[in-house]
Amino acid sequence: MSKSKRTLLVTSALPYANGPIHLGHLVEYIQTDIWVRFQKLRGHNCLYVCADDAHGTPIMLRAQQEGITPEQLIEAVGQEHRTDFSDFNIGFDNYHSTHSPENRELSGLVYQRHRDAGHITTRTITQAYDAEQQMFLPDRFIRGECPRCGAADQYGDSCEVCGATYAPTELVNPVSAISGSTPVERESLHYFFKLADFEPLLRDWTTAGHVQEEVANKLNEWFEAGLREWDISRDAPYFGFRIPDTEDKYFYVWLDAPIGYMASFKNLCDRTGLDFDAWWNKDSEHELYHFIGKDIIYFHALFWPAMLAGAGMRTPTAVFAHGFLTIDGQKMSKSRGTFIKARTYLDYLNPEYLRYYFAARLGSGVDDIDLNLADFQQRVNSDLVGKVVNIASRCAGFIHKQFAGELADSCSEPELYAEFVAAGEAIAADYDAREFGHAIRKIMALADRANQYIDASKPWMLAKQAGREAEVQAVCSTGINLFRVLATWLQPVLPAMASDVEALLNIPPMTWDAVNAPLTAHKINKFKPLMTRVEQDKVDAMLEDSKEHLAGNEAELQPAGPLADDPVAETISFDDFVKLDLRIARIAKAEHVDGADKLLRLTLDLGGETRNVFAGIKSAYAPESLEGKLTVMVANLAPRKMRFGISEGMVLAAGSGGEDLWILSPDQGAQPGMRVK
Ligand code: MSP
Ligand code: ZN
Repeated sequence: MSKSKRTLLVTSALPYANGPIHLGHLVEYIQTDIWVRFQKLRGHNCLYVCADDAHGTPIMLRAQQEGITPEQLIEAVGQEHRTDFSDFNIGFDNYHSTHSPENRELSGLVYQRHRDAGHITTRTITQAYDAEQQMFLPDRFIRGECPRCGAADQYGDSCEVCGATYAPTELVNPVSAISGSTPVERESLHYFFKLADFEPLLRDWTTAGHVQEEVANKLNEWFEAGLREWDISRDAPYFGFRIPDTEDKYFYVWLDAPIGYMASFKNLCDRTGLDFDAWWNKDSEHELYHFIGKDIIYFHALFWPAMLAGAGMRTPTAVFAHGFLTIDGQKMSKSRGTFIKARTYLDYLNPEYLRYYFAARLGSGVDDIDLNLADFQQRVNSDLVGKVVNIASRCAGFIHKQFAGELADSCSEPELYAEFVAAGEAIAADYDAREFGHAIRKIMALADRANQYIDASKPWMLAKQAGREAEVQAVCSTGINLFRVLATWLQPVLPAMASDVEALLNIPPMTWDAVNAPLTAHKINKFKPLMTRVEQDKVDAMLEDSKEHLAGNEAELQPAGPLADDPVAETISFDDFVKLDLRIARIAKAEHVDGADKLLRLTLDLGGETRNVFAGIKSAYAPESLEGKLTVMVANLAPRKMRFGISEGMVLAAGSGGEDLWILSPDQGAQPGMRVK
C-alpha cells in the first residue's frame, strides 16, 4: 500500500466562553476528533487546534452580573471546557483562547493589511443606545413588539412568533433587555469590511470543491442577494481588542474569532518549534480544514476566506459543515431534561458510548442528527458490548487459562484474516470522506462474521475434548486477531477502549497498517471487561439531573433571552428597593399549563387591570385552591417571554420549594391594586 504522507491542520469552531459544553457542541468536537484520530492512525502529520471564543457583549455582561472581571470569567469557563473535552477524549494538540497575545497580534496584522489595501471603509450609523447603561445595544439585547404581527417581547432582529426579520429601530415599544429603559437612537462611526471586493475570488473558491454541495448552493443564494459590507467595529464598553489607530473602537467578536484558529496554532508553533508561516503563507502545501455547524457557514465560507486572501494568506482546503443535534426528535429542551451538559452526561455514562453513537449516525452532509435515547442504548449494547467486546471475552479466557496467554504460532484462517484486513481500505475511504456511519456499518458486518466463525468452531466444546487443545488455541487465536483488526478500525471512535485493548493484547499503540500481519506466538494479558452495557437507570438519572439543575434555577421561569442566568446581587441599594412596585393582587384564575412541570398560569386582578403571570408553584398548590385568594406581586417586572407565553410580573412566595412553598397573603382589609410599601 503506497500512500504519501500528508500534513493537515484541523479545527473545530471555538465555543463561546460564557456557557457550558453540551451534547449539541459535542457532535462537532467528536466528529472532528474522530477524523483527526483517523488521519493520525494512517500515519499522516495531522494537528488539531481549538480555543475558547472569549470576546463580545454577552461575555462582558455575564461577568458584570457575576461581579467578576471578564478575564476571570473566561479563565474559569476555559478550565471547565478543557476538562469536559479531555474527559470526552477530544485530543486537541492545542487549546487556546481568543483573548491572547497571539490573537491580538494576528488580528491587528490581518486588519492592517486589509486597511492598507483599501478593503476597510468607515461611516456613521445610527444605533440603539441604552442611556442608563451607557452602551450601544446589540440587536439581541433589545426587546419589543414585532412590527409585523404585534407579538410582545420579541428580539431586536427577528420575531419568534411570525418569523419576520427587521431592523431593531422598527420594533414597537422597544426596551433594553439590560436596564429595561427605552433605547434612544445615537450615531457612531463604524468600520466596515468590503466583502464585495472579494466576490470573484469567493465565487471561484466556492465552485472549486472546498465546500459541500448543499453549502455551495446556499452560497450561491447569498451571491445572488449581493454581498453586503460587514460591520467589524463595536463601541466601548466592549470586551475585545481595540482596533489599531482608534481610541475607543473594538473589533467585533466575529472578526477575531476565526483568527483565533491561527492564534492557537501560533501558540502551538511557539511551544514546539513548528514553522507558522509554512502553514499560513498563500502557497502553503499543507492542508487546512475547518469543522463547523451549519449556523456559522456565512462566517467561514465568505468572511473567512476573504479575510485570509486579502491579508495575503492561504485559504482553507475545505470547510465541513454539520447539522444540529436533536434529542428524541426534538430540539434540546431544558424542561424535558434534554438540554444535557457534557458534565452531566459524564456523571452517568461512558463518553465512548456517545462517541460510538454519534459516529454511527454521522455522514458527510449537513442533515441534523438525532440522539434517540432508546436507540442509543440498544445500539451500544448490541454492537459494542454484544458483538465487538464479546469476541475478545469469548476467546481471551481460553488463551489465558489453557495456554498461559500464548497465541498460536500461526494463523489458522489466513483467508478470513485477509478478508478483515482487506476491508480496511474501504473503511478508511469512509472515514476520510466523513461517512462515519458507513464505516461503522462495515465494521459491524465484520464483527458479525467473527462471531459466526466462533459460533461455528465452538471452542467451548473442543475444550472439553481430550487431544483437541491445538484446535482450541487456533480458533481462539484467530478470534483474538480478528478482534484486534476491529479494534484498530474502531480506534478513531473509541480511543479509550483502544488503549485498553493495547494493554490486553500487550501491543504497542495501534496503527492502521500494523494489522497487516496477525499476532502469532505472542503473549497476551488477562482479560478484563472492556465495556459494560448502557443501563436504563443511568440514562434516566442523567435526564432527571438535567432537569434538576434547572429546577434549582427555576428553569421554566427563565426568560429565553441572553440574560437567562441572571444571578442575584448580594445587596441592593435603597434606590433599587423603591423601584419595586409591589401590589396586592387577587388570583382571579389559576390553571395548569400544558407541558410545564412546575408552572401554573395565574390571571391576577390588580383592581381593574389584569395580568398574566406564570408562577412555579404547581408543586404546592392545586389551581382551584388559589382562585379568589389575595397575594402580593411584583407589578413592574419587565414582561418576559417564556416557553409557554408572556409573563407579566411575579407573585411572591416563601419556602424552599416543592411542597414547602407558601404564597404571601395580606392581612384582612387589603384590596387588589393597593401598593405594598
Ligand atoms: N463562537 C462561535 C464560533 C466561532 S468559530 C471562529 C460559536 N460558538 S458556539 O459555542 O455557539 O458553537 C460552537 C460550535 O458548536 C458551532 O460550530 C455550532 O454550530 C456547534 N453547535 C452548537 N450547538 C449545536 C447543536 N445543538 N448541534 C450541533 N452543533 C451545535 O458559534
Ligand atoms: Zn411577528
